Amino acid sequence: MTSSASGPPSGRPSPPLMPTPNIPQKSPIVKEMAPGTYWWCTCGHSKGQPFCDGSHKGTGFAPRKAEITETKTVAWCACKHTKNGAFCDGSHKSC
Ligand code: FES
Repeated sequence: MTSSASGPPSGRPSPPLMPTPNIPQKSPIVKEMAPGTYWWCTCGHSKGQPFCDGSHKGTGFAPRKAEITETKTVAWCACKHTKNGAFCDGSHKSC
């Protein structure tokens, strides 16, 4: 039996493939935000970045809730690879 680069050897099932987000921009979207609840786009297909516009339907993604408790400047992730909720963590430098 030979192994291939496309899956694990010995007949074990492959792990499920994770959907890959679209990358609308490789830098954060910086906005002055009022307090409120916002729905951050995780799929990268929204026309109203960084927020969800419903374009994720059928992609396997869902928007992520972000609570802003006071007026402040927010750096929203636009590469969709952040590990910091909806907020930029610098991941755009390596995706
Ligand atoms: S449009 Fe991207 S998560 Fe809704």
